Amino acid sequence: MLPIYFAPLEGVTDTIFRRVHHAHFTGVTKYYIPFVSPTKNMFFTSRELYAISPEGNEGVPVVPQIMAKDASLFLWCAQQLHDMGYTEVNLNIGCPSSTVTAKGKGSGMLRTPDVLAAFLDEIFGKSPLPVSVKTRIGYASPDEWPRILSVLSSYPIHELTIHPRTRSQMYTGTPYRECFDEAFNRLSCPLVYNGNLFTPEDCHSLIVACPDTAAIMLGRGLIGNPALAQSLNGGENLTLASLKRFHDDLLEAYLERGPENFALIRMHAIMKHMLSGFTDNEKPRKQFRKATRISDYIEIANRLFECHELTDNPHFLPDPSAIH
Ligand SMILES: Cc1cc2nc3c(=O)[nH]c(=O)nc-3n(C[C@H](O)[C@H](O)[C@H](O)COP(=O)(O)O)c2cc1C
Repeated sequence: MLPIYFAPLEGVTDTIFRRVHHAHFTGVTKYYIPFVSPTKNMFFTSRELYAISPEGNEGVPVVPQIMAKDASLFLWCAQQLHDMGYTEVNLNIGCPSSTVTAKGKGSGMLRTPDVLAAFLDEIFGKSPLPVSVKTRIGYASPDEWPRILSVLSSYPIHELTIHPRTRSQMYTGTPYRECFDEAFNRLSCPLVYNGNLFTPEDCHSLIVACPDTAAIMLGRGLIGNPALAQSLNGGENLTLASLKRFHDDLLEAYLERGPENFALIRMHAIMKHMLSGFTDNEKPRKQFRKATRISDYIEIANRLFECHELTDNPHFLPDPSAIH
C-alpha cells in the first residue's frame, strides 16, 4: 500500500484528534497539522503553540503547515519549526476560504502566478527545511493549471499534494482527475493525490489509474471511517465497538481539555462525518442538529451506538447542500 497521509482539517483534526486517532488506529504515515498563519508580530498564539509544539504531538508523526504570502514571515515560521525539530514544512496554497483569499493567501496565491513565483523564489532559496506544497489547480478555472504547473516546475518541491479542484468549487463538484494526471508530465517531484477518496474502492481505483502516485492524502473519508487507512493496510475494518471506543475517548479528551462548549463543537464536527456510516441515520442526524448542550449530545450519541449498526461499507458521504 502507498503511504497514507491524514489531511489537515482546521477545526477538526486538531492535536487531540490526531493523538487519539493515532492511539486507536494504524495506517497513517503522516498527520498534517492544520495551517498556522504567521503575522508580522512574529510570535505564535497559545492556540498555535498547542497545535505545533513537539510536546503536544509526542509520538505522533506530524507535519506542520504554514499559510503565508509574505516570504519573510514564512521563513521566520519555518525557522521556528526547524528549531523545534521538524524535518518538513508544508505550504498551503489551496485554502479556499474567502477570509483567507481576500488577503491573497491560500488559493488566493493562485490568482497571480508571477507573485507566487517571486514568493517561491525566496522561500525555496532560504528555507531551513524541505518544503512540501498543498495546492489546488486554479482559482476560477482548471484552465489556469498549465501556468501554475509551469511555476511549480521551477522549484525543488519536497512533495506536492494536489487537490484537483478550483477555488470556486470549494469542496463540491467532481475533482479534475485529468489535471492530476497532467502533473506527472510536467513535474519531477513526488505527487500526492487528495480529494474525495472516501472508501477503500475509491483509493484502489485512484492507485490503479495513477500508478506513479507517491502517496494519498485522506481527509473527510478518514474522519468518517477512522479505520480506513488501517484496513487499506490489511488491518482490522471498522467495527461499531472500535468506533465507539474512539468516539468516547475523543469526547473524554475534549472534556478534559476545555469547556463543554468546545467539546460540543468538536464532537459535532466529527460526528457530522461519521453519521453516514450508520444505518437509518436520518433521525439521529436531526436530533444532533438540535443538541445545544453536551449532555444532549452524549445522550443522542449513546443511543446511536446502542440502537444502530454500521453499514456494510461505512464511509463519509458529502451533504449535497453543504459547501463541504
Ligand atoms: C473544515 C475543513 C478545514 C480544512 N482545513 C485545512 C487546512 O488547515 N489546511 C489545508 O491544507 N487544507 C484544509 N482543508 C482541506 C483538506 O485538507 C482536504 O484537502 C479536503 O478536505 C479534501 O480532501 P477530502 O476529500 O479527502 O476530504 C480543510 C477542509 C475542510 C473541509
